[in-house]
Amino acid sequence: MTEYIIETTDLRKTYPGNIMAVKGIHLQIKQGEIFGFLGPNGAGKTTTIKMLSTSITPTSGFATVMGYDIVKDSMQVRRNIGVVPQDLTTDEDLKAVENLRMVARFYDLPKGPSNRKIDELLALVDLADVGDHYVRTFSGGMRKRLELIMGLVNEPKVLFLDEPTLGLDVQTRAKMWDYIKRIRSELGVTIILTTHYLEEADELSDRICIIDHGNIITIGTSAELKASLKGDTIIVETKNEESLKQISGFTESVEEPTVNGREIRLTVKNADSDLPLLMDFMIKNGITPMKMSVQKPSLDQVFLKLTGNEIREESGETAFKQAINMRRLRK
Ligand SMILES: Nc1ncnc2c1ncn2[C@@H]1O[C@H](COP(=O)(O)OP(=O)(O)OP(=O)(O)O)[C@@H](O)[C@H]1O
Ligand SMILES: [Mg+2]
Repeated sequence: MTEYIIETTDLRKTYPGNIMAVKGIHLQIKQGEIFGFLGPNGAGKTTTIKMLSTSITPTSGFATVMGYDIVKDSMQVRRNIGVVPQDLTTDEDLKAVENLRMVARFYDLPKGPSNRKIDELLALVDLADVGDHYVRTFSGGMRKRLELIMGLVNEPKVLFLDEPTLGLDVQTRAKMWDYIKRIRSELGVTIILTTHYLEEADELSDRICIIDHGNIITIGTSAELKASLKGDTIIVETKNEESLKQISGFTESVEEPTVNGREIRLTVKNADSDLPLLMDFMIKNGITPMKMSVQKPSLDQVFLKLTGNEIREESGETAFKQAINMRRLRK
């Protein structure tokens, strides 16, 4: 086995109709990592997860999970992984434990140890008290927690989570983050997750892979990605455009000043020290600001800079998918 728990070389998937969903990705994921795939709708996240978890075969390229070839050794791969798909899989006409026992039977696990494991998993996500309740009585958040542990019954070394918090409200999402962290720290599982929530990738992932239109745009820690922005942005709006020109040269460290109407955006190394200098400069030159603000680097800006687009999180399509998902959760 290589030093990486997952490794891919030029992995591609083209669907019928020449839809190039994944266009040749190279990845090296370390044991014990939470690795986040961040990208908008249609970026190729689910397709990548489906290939790595052997539910679809790649069109070309090569990948291993724990050293096993995802095509030739697919059985060994399956035995060592857990998958929580984007769509809900639990049966609402069964009790929570019954759903989990079905997974145990699917893997042909011995009853005694697997029942103990199921109890342990229910406790891990605070569902121990409702294990014998029907899933249809669960709230959306409870159901997602159950979905989460469905992927852990066979004690996998690697867990794939496809959009684990899609459609959940902000508070419930934050709770899910705690459970996901707990799975890594208490069970030592390597986690590959997909999300189109920037703050989710930021909060959970040791490393983030930004993917768009089937290509990897960048991979790094959240701090590394933000550092690539080369600093903070100071935004100033003035009464007239003339004064913007003066402002753009207030210190030599300003990079890439961009003017938009009566607003100027200045990239500086550190706004904490440069902002007072700018204020002095403006007072000395009699320039009155209408508005001033500072933006610290965020994943939003990284995404915007690298792809030229917002993450399209609020697109109609996403809102529609979320509504459908919420309805399924509530049903
Ligand atoms: N079974 C399929 N047949 C044909 N095209 C597909 C199929 N599944 C996905 N696609 C297309 O492949 C591209 C990548 O889809 P994929 O589901 O991997 O994206 P994603 O990043 O998971 O998006 P989302 O955030 O919406 O879940 C999209 O253009 C999608 O329409
Ligand atoms: Mg998807």
